[in-house]
Parts: sequence; C-alpha cells; structure tokens
Amino acid sequence: MTHDYLITAAAPFLPLALDEMGAVARSTELQGMIGDEIALIRTDRDLGAMHGAMQRQPPVFVRHIVPVQAHVDFSGEGEADLAALRDAAVALADSGMLRADDVFSVQARVVTAVEEQRPFSPYAIAQAIAPTLTERCGATVDVRNPELVLSVLATAQQAWLGVSPVAFNRSDWAGGERRFRREAGQLSRAEFKLLEAMELFALTVPKGALALDLGAAPGGWTRLLLAAGALVTAVDPAPLDPSLMAHRQLTPIEDYALPWIEHAHAEGLLYDIIVSDIRMDARDAARLMVAMAPLMHLDSWALVTLKLPTPDALGMDVAAMLNQALDSLRARYRTVQARQLFHNRHEVTVRVAL
Ligand SMILES: C[S@@+](CC[C@H](N)C(=O)[O-])C[C@H]1O[C@@H](n2cnc3c(N)ncnc32)[C@H](O)[C@@H]1O
Repeated sequence: MTHDYLITAAAPFLPLALDEMGAVARSTELQGMIGDEIALIRTDRDLGAMHGAMQRQPPVFVRHIVPVQAHVDFSGEGEADLAALRDAAVALADSGMLRADDVFSVQARVVTAVEEQRPFSPYAIAQAIAPTLTERCGATVDVRNPELVLSVLATAQQAWLGVSPVAFNRSDWAGGERRFRREAGQLSRAEFKLLEAMELFALTVPKGALALDLGAAPGGWTRLLLAAGALVTAVDPAPLDPSLMAHRQLTPIEDYALPWIEHAHAEGLLYDIIVSDIRMDARDAARLMVAMAPLMHLDSWALVTLKLPTPDALGMDVAAMLNQALDSLRARYRTVQARQLFHNRHEVTVRVAL
C-alpha cells in the first residue's frame, strides 16, 4: 500500500527537502511538482510511521507536509467544482477521518500559473467545506487552535485533500506560510525571522533577561528583545538605527563579534539569550556559536542563522556545508534544532541550548 504526501519547501531548497524525505521514508517517488515550492511524493509509509520517522530525524528544509487522501479533478464550472471538493471532504469525514469530538480547521491553498485564473480563493474553499463537515459529523471548527487540519491544495485543474494532526504538518499555517503584520517602528524584515523562530521553538524572553545580539545592525532583533523587556548588548561593526540609541536597556558595541566574545569570557559574563544573525559562512557562524557556549547557563537559549549558498551555486555541496556546521554545534550543545523558516532566505535558523 502506498501513501501520498505534499511537501512544501522554499523553491531553491526543494531538492534538499526531497532528499530529506527520501531519508525519512527510506524511499520516496516524486509524483509531480505543483508550482516551484510544492512536491507530490509517494512512499510506503503511512501517516503514523512518517510522523515517528520525522520526529527521530527532523528535516530542516521541509517547511510543511500534509497527507493526500483524496483527489478531485475540476470541470471548470465553479459551483460544481466546489461541490465536488465538499463531497470529497465529506467522504473523508465519513471514512472516520473526522469525528464528533474533533476540533478542526480547513486550510486551503490555491496555486496557479501566472497566466491562469484562480478557480477559487482559499477562503471560498474553506467556507464551502467547513460548515458542511460540522453539520455532518459534529466536529468543531477552530481556525486558531485546531487539533486536526483538513488541507486542500487546489490548482486550476485539480485538488488534493487530506486530514492530519496539526503537529504532523510541521507548521500551524497553510504551507508553513507564517505571516506577521508589519509594525510601526519595525527596523528590518529580519524581525519576522526572530518572531517566527521564537514561535516555532516555543522560546520566550523573560523580563529583565540578559541578551546578547551579534550582527545586530540595523537593530530589528534588538528592538524586539528590548520591547520584550530584555537588557540587550548589541554587537555589530555597523551602526544601529538611531531610534534605538536612547534606550536605557541597550548597550551598543560597534565592533566585530569575536573581540566582544573574548571580553565576555574574560569578565565571566553569562547571558540568558544569545542571538546571532551575522552575515558569514555557515561553518564560521557555527564555530562562533560554539565559542559562546561558556557564556550560557543551562536555561539559556540561543538562535543562530546559518547563511547558505543556493544549492545550484557552482561547486558547492550545500547539504555537506550545513551538516558540517550542525555537527560542530552538536559536538558542543545538547539541543540543536534547525529549520528553514518561511522568513529565512538563503539560510536556516538553528536553536541551541546546553
Ligand atoms: C542580516 S544583518 C542582521 C540584521 C539584524 N538581525 C536585524 O534584525 O536588523 C547581518 C549583520 O551582520 C553584521 N556582521 C558581519 N560580520 C560581523 C561580525 N564578524 N561580527 C559582528 N557583526 C557582523 C553586518 O554588519 C550586518 O549588520
């Protein structure tokens, strides 16, 4: 018996995500591509086996995964196609995928080529399906906090549907697309990376925490840490945004990271939080993070972004480069979790703890 899954990864890293799934599921067959970020794969592993394997061997580049349990070909007639989607969803519920005490949401994505018209909006799909499922089997809709997700991926010609626990999907958001609202005073797009990483890894900033931000300029991460009530030492040879400079909980250090790390060692400083978004080779960034271990205590958390070339960069084995960086972190830290976040570009974000 075979099982199909849709996996989503940032386009340049989708080949690496497919390799990861091949390793997780022992073997996978690529069935097709939907746009440049989504692949349909087939394996002999069911949802439970796949979930267990992904927990033992968490992929870095797979941003989102959902099972495919039903398929609908569209006729091109809007209402009839929505009814076909609804029927397919009802059949899944009737087969026991959704029960009266389940709390679920419908997450729909619509992917079309530039020249194609979108057949429906994701909202129209969710509206066509969710109330009928509640009526049919009594399950409760909770868009913010579902236990189960009915995922629908539609193109102009067809759609795939599947039900899975939200924890299986690797993200609470359709396609792993975690979007944040722009805030007044936001200093950089990098702020979204920190917000996404903290949410994904369940990290918090206690009031009064001592934080070290390396590669801090122009100051987006520093701004967020200060706003959360941390005392922040922000290190960067480039200047921070002037709007931060009057902040009483900020110590700006206009220098490279290494001299400050050496100074902190000599002074016996300990930080509750260390974040490093330095633009440098991934292996050097990992080495720097290893050098910071003595500045952490057992409850500290740290995040480091590892910048990667795109996998098509000539002569670069990106997976090997990343593995070298992660191996050096694993040799020093007990916890090392790496993910390519929605807001990461050519980089991955790694959480480490002693
Ligand atoms: C992606 S930016 C950081 C953005 C920042 N996290 C924010 O939220 O605004 C990378 C920064 O790394 C800094 N950088 C590069 N090499 C460095 C080094 N050796 N030590 C400290 N900072 C460095 C650069 O000056 C640049 O400001």
